[in-house]
Order: sequence, then C-alpha cells, then structure tokens
Amino acid sequence: MSPKITVIGLGYLGATHAAAMAELGFEVLGLDIVPEKIELLTRGETPIYEPGLEDMLRRHVAGLPGSTGRLSFTTSYAAVAEFGDIHFICVNTPQKPGEYACDMSYVDSAVDSLAPHLTRPSLVVGKSTVPVGSAARLARRVAELAPAGDAAELAWNPEFLREGFAVDDTLHPDRIVAGVTGERAEVLLREVYAGPLGDGTPFIVTDLPTAELVKTAANAFLSTKISFINAMAEICETAGGDVVKLAEALGHDDRIGKKFLRAGIGFGGGCLPKDIRAFMARAGELGAPEAVAFLREIDSINMRRRVYMVDLTRETLGGSLLGKRVAVLGAAFKPDSDDVRDSPALNIAGQLHLQGAEVTVHDPKAMENARRVFPTLRYADSPTEAAQGAHAVLHLTEWREFRELDPAALGEVVGERHILDGRNTLDPALWRKAGWTYRALGRPTA
Ligand code: UDX
Repeated sequence: MSPKITVIGLGYLGATHAAAMAELGFEVLGLDIVPEKIELLTRGETPIYEPGLEDMLRRHVAGLPGSTGRLSFTTSYAAVAEFGDIHFICVNTPQKPGEYACDMSYVDSAVDSLAPHLTRPSLVVGKSTVPVGSAARLARRVAELAPAGDAAELAWNPEFLREGFAVDDTLHPDRIVAGVTGERAEVLLREVYAGPLGDGTPFIVTDLPTAELVKTAANAFLSTKISFINAMAEICETAGGDVVKLAEALGHDDRIGKKFLRAGIGFGGGCLPKDIRAFMARAGELGAPEAVAFLREIDSINMRRRVYMVDLTRETLGGSLLGKRVAVLGAAFKPDSDDVRDSPALNIAGQLHLQGAEVTVHDPKAMENARRVFPTLRYADSPTEAAQGAHAVLHLTEWREFRELDPAALGEVVGERHILDGRNTLDPALWRKAGWTYRALGRPTA
C-alpha cells in the first residue's frame, strides 16, 4: 500500500508540495496552524499567485466537485500523526529581524508539536532551507520526543522550486536530493518520488549535512552568478561596454551557461537574499567564515545596484528628485509572482519616495501586497495611468505586458520621455525611435 503523506506548513512550498503529492496519486493531509489558510485551501484557493497551483488544488481537494478527494487539510498535529506515514516539514525559515541568521523557530515548533504524537514507525522529512547541522539536531529531537523512539526517523529532502514555476518544478524537478541516515528512509523517499524518478530524474542520496548544504550552496551559487554579471555591468558602465552582449557571449561557453546572467537591479525574493546571509551567519558559527567571506561581497553588489538605479534616476532628472513624478513599472521581485518580499523594485520605489519623488507604482499582480508593505506610495491600475505626467518611467520588474508596451502611446501621457530599464529587457531601439531617452544598467546610453 502507498504511504500516506502529510505536509506541515502550507505556504508557498507546502501548498505546492501537498497538491503535487496528491497529483502523483498519494492520499495527503496538509496542516497549517492558521485556520484562515485552511479555510481558503479547503475551497481550492491560495493566498498566493502561482500559475497552475489553484487548478492542481481543485483537482484534488476533498469535497470539491469532480476532485479526486485525495487532499484534505487540518490544524491538528494529532490528526496528522494519526493519518500519515511520511511527514514533510515545509514551514518557512525567514531572516531574523536585525540579524543575518535565519529564524528556526517555525521548524523547531513543527517538530516539537508533531513528534510527541508519533506512536508508530514514521518518517519526518525536512524540506525547508535550514542552516547546516539543523537536521542532525532535529533527528535527535524526533527520537527523543516520539513515543515510537527510533522507529520515528528524520530525513532531509531540500526543495529547489522557483516561484512562478512551482508546480512544474515540483512535478518535474532537475534532481531529487535525499539526506538519510538509513536505508528505510531512502526506500520510502524513492517510493514517494517514483513518478519523477520514472522520468529519469537523478536521485542523489547523501548524509544529512550534505543534503542541507546542497540547497544553501545552490542558492549561494545562483546569487553569485547574478552579482558577478552585475559587477560586470558596473565595469561596462565605466568602460562603455554592453553587459547584455557580454552575458550573451559568455553564455555560449557551456562551462559558464546562459542562465542567471541577466544584469539589472539584482536579486530579491523570499529566498536568495536571506539564504546567503544565513549561510554567512552559519559559517561564522561553525568557525569557517573565510570559506564564504565572498558572499558578503555578493550581497553588497546586489544592494548597490538598487542604490545605483536611484542615482541614475536622480541624474536623469537633473540632479534632484524633489517633486519629480516617477512611474515605477513593477513591484514584485520578479515577473509571474505577486511576492514583494525583499523586492528590488519596491525597495527602489521606496528610496525614490523617501528622497522626495512622487512615485506611482503599477504591477499586474503584486499591487495588494505592495500596498500592504508600502502604503505611502501611490498605486495605479495600469502602466498608462502610472505614467500620467511622469518625468521618468522606471521598468523594474520584467513582466511581459511591460515589454509589449507601445512607447509611442505611452509617450503621449508622460511629462518627459525618459525610460530607465532596470531589467535590460526592453528594446532600446524601439523606445529611442519613439523619442525616449533610454537608459539601462551596464549598457551604453546612446
Ligand atoms: C530561487 C531559486 O531559483 C530556487 O531554486 C530556490 O528554491 C528559491 O530561490 P525564486 O526566489 O523563486 O527561486 O526566484 P529566481 O527565479 O531564482 O529569481 C531570484 C531573483 O533573482 C529575482 O529577483 C530575479 O529577478 C533575480 N535574477 C534572476 C536576476 O536578477 N538575474 C538573473 O539572471 C536571474
């Protein structure tokens, strides 16, 4: 008989994982401690915008018309322990306020709440991104608290999903990493992932610390690639080169690869920024800070690009932002997402506002979240409305609809035709032809 699965923490990662497990044919019970979230999910809805997720939920949430009924939700740890053989921990590990380290309290409390109910053989599987060493500590905690003792085991199975592609990344991962301490955990995880494994997905079995590190190292490497190309953009700005062409030429070398070499205002979101900081903090605790000292520079380059964008706007507007109208296109940290956590776009909008500009923001999906974080900014329902009378238009999140804007039509409503492309994805020739000054990061001005 197939193992029954539970998913603890129904945020981004957990909601997607729970629905994907049901899609793969398992009976799934999802737990969250927030009752409103459970109510929403029970209706087949999510609090986040993620293409394809609500459809996948509706195919499986029990009680919805035409669903398989394989997916249900609860707020009770006792119910979860009673139901499941495998318990995935998917709670978040945010950056601690005012510190670099990550906050492990949600993971700790999930394990402490679940383990005392584990009376029969079960496998607890961590998926959250955690500082190396956490899994071994949590494994001891499970063994100590679970009435089943050693029969309750812990494994680590990091998740690499990207927002905007969460459903596809979960159902068709590049690789599956299983950090285990024994054969039983490996066998169970192979059974859970039999679907993707059948499609030839590599399955890499490691010890617990290596599994935790794969995730941390992967995100640190991605951040490094982005900050590297952004450092090259800085060089291009002084040497007169074009970073877009540079990245294209670099990417043809298979050893380097084309991906994650898009220069611009840098990386944001709920993962990359906090994960490199948490990695630095953990390396410091372990007495190995030199090993990842360069990550501090990766973070600084990233934050510098936001300041540079503000400086470039001020310079374009003649040296002062006071009273200048600026239209900001984009608030989400990347397109196809409504997530504004550590969003470079919103951060830049905020800096401009604090320096006296009248900022109006438009984003196709992230308006509600942006309003909550930055209620003092103005918000408009369309790019055209945001651009009314603007002295400069800033393109800060590369939504497709922004690439498809008609520069001539937008030129009719602005006060001055200055477009600053923070994502290097607009067509400079098109904008210049329509009478705009086009400026971008790491690209020649004319
Ligand atoms: C990231 C990792 O990709 C994923 O594997 C991990 O599980 C979670 O963190 P995500 O945060 O969804 O995923 O976003 P991603 O697509 O990686 O983009 C992160 C940020 O980097 C965005 O702000 C994006 O705009 C920026 N970025 C990405 C660049 O500035 N340049 C690039 O070339 C690529």
